[in-house]
Amino acid sequence: MLFEILTTGSMLGVLGTSYYYKTNLNNDADKILKIAENCGLYKKDEKIRLYRRNFNKEKKFTEYAFKIPLGLELKDFQDKYGKFKDGLNNRSVRRIILKDFKNLKLDRTLPMQIQAILNNRVRQNKEIEMEYDGMLIMRVYDEGMPAEMHYDDELLKKVKGWEVPIGVTFKEFVIHDFEGLQMLVIAGMTRYGKTVFLKNAITTLINNQPENVKFTLIDLKGGLAFSRFMACKQVNTVAKNCPETLAALEAIHRELLARQEHFLANGWEDIGEAGWKERHFVVIDEGAEIAGFEDREERLRATHLIGEIARIGAGLGYRLIFATQYPTADVFPRQVKANTSAALCFKLKNSTQSLVVLDRAGAEDLPVGLKGRAIYQTDREQLVQTPFIKNSFIDIKIKPHINFRARSEGTSAPFKATKEEEGGSYITKFEKA
Ligand SMILES: Nc1ncnc2c1ncn2[C@@H]1O[C@H](COP(=O)(O)OP(=O)(O)OP(=O)(O)O)[C@@H](O)[C@H]1O
Ligand SMILES: [Mg+2]
Repeated sequence: MLFEILTTGSMLGVLGTSYYYKTNLNNDADKILKIAENCGLYKKDEKIRLYRRNFNKEKKFTEYAFKIPLGLELKDFQDKYGKFKDGLNNRSVRRIILKDFKNLKLDRTLPMQIQAILNNRVRQNKEIEMEYDGMLIMRVYDEGMPAEMHYDDELLKKVKGWEVPIGVTFKEFVIHDFEGLQMLVIAGMTRYGKTVFLKNAITTLINNQPENVKFTLIDLKGGLAFSRFMACKQVNTVAKNCPETLAALEAIHRELLARQEHFLANGWEDIGEAGWKERHFVVIDEGAEIAGFEDREERLRATHLIGEIARIGAGLGYRLIFATQYPTADVFPRQVKANTSAALCFKLKNSTQSLVVLDRAGAEDLPVGLKGRAIYQTDREQLVQTPFIKNSFIDIKIKPHINFRARSEGTSAPFKATKEEEGGSYITKFEKA
């Protein structure tokens, strides 16, 4: 149980939450009017006017409807989003957690302990949503984005088919459906959550589509992050360096061309019409390493092959997830950018990188040090907190799919993987190391 009291509310606020909400409602409306005025959002003497206000108890938001002067539009207000958000969060609130009273130690420090509980302050974390329907609608949510979200069985139940959990916004759960959007670009500075997200996607798909999913995992940071998936029967290959990557990509490309001919011969337009259930995911972690392959020929060939998967792969059942820490124009194969309409973008270094990924600046302004916070962009944009999946959870989920012939006892890298060509495609064989 938790009471929140506005700083100005003094000890009267301890009386309860209703006091908080009333005070809060008045203050927020006044603040919005004031911020709009200070930001120049008025025309001559005409200012925005509050027309209606509702409090939604269940979803914990207050909706304000404002009449706005002729000559202003929704975008004028959206452009000032940061100013409204900071203005509404410019106070800390006193947060008393009743549970803390249970842990009091009965000694001389008791008064100090009580004081500390009563003085506990946290920054406000309100979130604003704006819309226009003849009036400017502003919804102010009491609680903004959660700072973390855990991947567990409950979460796994919320996705089906080819869906993967992207995370939560301040009000809803967001998924990415690889049947709708077949390619996904992931970008972000080091240590913000790219690889964790890839592991989330792989685990989810192995769990939900064990018979239909196939993976080619390309991990150019040495193969460590994906090694735990290596013995899963759904994983064809884990490529860790330039030659392995080229071999894996060439194999897919051959398969892709053969499949294209087969579809043509049968008059099938795409994998849907063919009625094939298999989807082959090519997951590339640290795509920038490809642009850094020493041999120019190999570099160009790898980039070309990835481009071809992006260009013609979707209709033939191939899916591409391309992650990079260095999203510059020359790192993205042109066809990847051109054929991808979904991006998950963690914090980036600068606006130039953000422009490459999102076609707009902004990812550089995501909070410093807040892992898992990202912008998910499709035909709309959502600020999300991505789920944190633990390795121990992954291991439980993939255990039933481990090819036991590929395992020996005791070590974490118990087998040697070798590729063999069979009937036009590569098969990965596992032997005891
Ligand atoms: N969604 C998340 N929520 C909370 N913590 C996270 C989340 N994602 C990642 N982390 C934390 O951040 C660490 C780094 O994450 P991750 O390895 O995914 O980064 P990365 O973007 O792949 O970095 P690099 O570019 O260096 O490979 C993780 O070990 C974990 O502790
Ligand atoms: Mg990584």
